[in-house]
Amino acid sequence: MGRKDKHKHKHRKKKEKRKSKYTARTADRHELYELSVQNVEEEIKFLDKTFREVRGRPALTLREDFAGTTAAACEWVRNGVERRAWAVDIDPKVLEWGRKRHVEKLSPEQQERIELVEGDVKTTNTPLADLVVAFNFSYFIFKERATLRHYFEQVRRNLNSEGVFMLDCFGGAEAIEESEEETEQDDFTYVWDQDSFDPIGANLMCHIHFHFPDGSKIRKAYSYDWRLWTLPELREILVEAGFRKVTVYWEGHDEDGEGNDIYEPAERGDSDPAWIAYIVAER
Ligand SMILES: C[S@@+](CC[C@H](N)C(=O)[O-])C[C@H]1O[C@@H](n2cnc3c(N)ncnc32)[C@H](O)[C@@H]1O
Repeated sequence: MGRKDKHKHKHRKKKEKRKSKYTARTADRHELYELSVQNVEEEIKFLDKTFREVRGRPALTLREDFAGTTAAACEWVRNGVERRAWAVDIDPKVLEWGRKRHVEKLSPEQQERIELVEGDVKTTNTPLADLVVAFNFSYFIFKERATLRHYFEQVRRNLNSEGVFMLDCFGGAEAIEESEEETEQDDFTYVWDQDSFDPIGANLMCHIHFHFPDGSKIRKAYSYDWRLWTLPELREILVEAGFRKVTVYWEGHDEDGEGNDIYEPAERGDSDPAWIAYIVAER
């Protein structure tokens, strides 16, 4: 999934008057998704730094839940010869895409340290890991408290005794607004569409569209039928699932009040209209 805040790291320069590489007919939606939404280098840096702060040693093993194209898991094994990763996703097609695009580009030795696992994150078991991550709000697909708790319990069972679960969350007034937001990428436009919000169920329906310079479009390249969980709900459910310590990491700001991409443990936040936060749950 993606929200505009996710690309503030990227600073991609728009190239003018160049024939675009992409049209709706030729573009690959997974490639555009990765370019628009993901920044796995920054993600892995955050996991690394935060695990060190919490446990006083580097993390070696990572389970990436809702792994999709497996980009984060591949970045993990590239980052250290002792590192192993398991990438779990329910969709064999996206895992296959990831295998061709990312895994097969790793060295044979690196490929031995990564495993793609097709399965439901609620029931899949993998070797006990230092870290489990669920990023880009993927767990928002679990709409009932009991289902979400069941998933969190399964995560906990797959962590070793020093294991840590990290997940992201977003919110603020703009999160419940029905809006379409366009972000220019190099050769296409990424559109984040918050299509509808239902306050009774906190159901948020979102889509990703891609628009191209030749006027063609891929509408609904991805659709997300989510429950917009709040931080206190998530903390409570993680504690109910057995996690011993659950900390919210909130973004700091610079002297102009702009977010500075530095996330620190916090007990109080401010009423940012579009915030992203991380939750760090210690087994
Ligand atoms: C939004 S993508 C996340 C991709 C990537 N992790 C990221 O950070 O951008 C969500 C992925 O979750 C997968 N998924 C949905 N339900 C799942 C489940 N119950 N178990 C495992 N994977 C699931 C989908 O197949 C999809 O690839």
